[in-house]
Amino acid sequence: MNDASPANGLARTGVRGHGLPGRFLSVEGIDGAGKSTHLDWLAEHCRQSGREVIVTREPGGTPLGERLRELLLHETMGVQTELLLVFAARCEHVNELIRPALTRGAMVICDRFTDSTHAYQGGGRGLKAGWIDQLEAVVLGGLRPDRTYLFDLPADIAARRRAAAREADRFEQEDLDFFERVRAAYSRRVSQDPERFLRLDGRETVDTLRARIADDLATQGLLGHNAGH
Ligand SMILES: Nc1ncnc2c1ncn2[C@@H]1O[C@H](COP(=O)(O)OP(=O)(O)OP(=O)(O)O)[C@@H](O)[C@H]1O
Ligand SMILES: [Mg+2]
Repeated sequence: MNDASPANGLARTGVRGHGLPGRFLSVEGIDGAGKSTHLDWLAEHCRQSGREVIVTREPGGTPLGERLRELLLHETMGVQTELLLVFAARCEHVNELIRPALTRGAMVICDRFTDSTHAYQGGGRGLKAGWIDQLEAVVLGGLRPDRTYLFDLPADIAARRRAAAREADRFEQEDLDFFERVRAAYSRRVSQDPERFLRLDGRETVDTLRARIADDLATQGLLGHNAGH
């Protein structure tokens, strides 16, 4: 399926979250849901279109952002400080890396973006959605991903996968209730912006999930060269 297909939602509506020639994908989900497992494959798959592809992550993605990430994952701090540091890192990331890449026509694949803030600091920590919306407006000025892949997985399964894989950081030490709140907040994000998200069942096999994503990228016209705007 190509960009001109009537089934291509983005080509049909012409609506993108940034108005720039590049493409912006994000992957989301609670810790251990399976996001990072797909990143390298996703980048290689997208490179077949001939487009420059950049893989990055949040918090992080720039030298200062990565230092802020270390603080966020390991330092004790208040929840408002946490929110502001998340947005400080994002501000650097957007200005230094994401916007320039989208401006020159690259595809940016981001492991977590603002939906994570709504899910973790909003749903998980209980901070007011209005604060997050205000910071989002100031820092992003309407910039949002073209497509977001949400890996949805019950908190207990994700916790078992994490325990088998690595040592827990500050967020990963939270209890199952915290992660169910984060998961519920992700679901609310999907309801608020259903066109942007593809929710994936994280219990499916890696191969099945990749096939679904590959299908979706084609259907959405995200692999084409001509951005059509
Ligand atoms: N579909 C799957 N089925 C079974 N196990 C999986 C699947 N996807 C990933 N895993 C395993 O689950 C663990 C967590 O996956 P991964 O690191 O990709 O999660 P993540 O969402 O990136 O987590 P975090 O937010 O903490 O970075 C890994 O050990 C990975 O191999
Ligand atoms: Mg990961």
